[in-house]
Amino acid sequence: MNIQSIPYKKIILVCGNIHTDGRISCGPQGGSEFKDTIKKICKEKQLPVRVVQSSCLGQCDFGPNIMITPDNVWLSGVTHADIDAIVTLIEKDLV
Ligand code: FES
Repeated sequence: MNIQSIPYKKIILVCGNIHTDGRISCGPQGGSEFKDTIKKICKEKQLPVRVVQSSCLGQCDFGPNIMITPDNVWLSGVTHADIDAIVTLIEKDLV
């Protein structure tokens, strides 16, 4: 086993889950697109963060959901109008 430091200051988990049993899910509400958009912006800004699509975060009824760690920030009911504010939150305390 190798142990090394994580080269990111924050991890952003964007739920893209799709439940197949009829329950409400973040994926069909744009989760994957949110991940792609946020990841693209963070890459362009060269932010030391990792944006990943996650499976269910357990708050399906309030989605789409995004977690920013280690900031302990949970975003729910995200819309495309929130993208700039989300990036601002991600940038907080990075520089
Ligand atoms: S499907 Fe996104 S929190 Fe459950």
